[in-house]
Amino acid sequence: MNWNKWIRQVHRWLALAFTVAIIANVAAMVQEKQAAWVGLLALLPLILLLLTGLYMFMLPYAAKWRSG
Ligand code: HEM
Repeated sequence: MNWNKWIRQVHRWLALAFTVAIIANVAAMVQEKQAAWVGLLALLPLILLLLTGLYMFMLPYAAKWRSG
């Protein structure tokens, strides 16, 4: 599997992890539980989503630059 495909797969699975973390967040909010780590649980995949997402965003432009 090439590098770009791998990044896309990682992004896809991170999206799932992020969604689960958001649901956990809402559950904690409804129960009025104060737990900062539940918030951080969503923040980590979001940061990784941002990085892998920006990478994928740049791919078509990078291909254009390379072809000149
Ligand atoms: C945080 C900033 C994010 C950026 C910059 C970003 C960027 C991107 C880009 C550029 C693509 C590829 C689109 C294409 O096919 O050309 C993509 C695909 C995708 N993104 Fe994101 N994304 C972000 C966050 C998220 C989040 C929060 C979710 C969902 C929880 C998400 C879910 C997905 C999914 C499911 C795909 C399709 C993956 C695939 O084709 O296998 N992304 N994203």
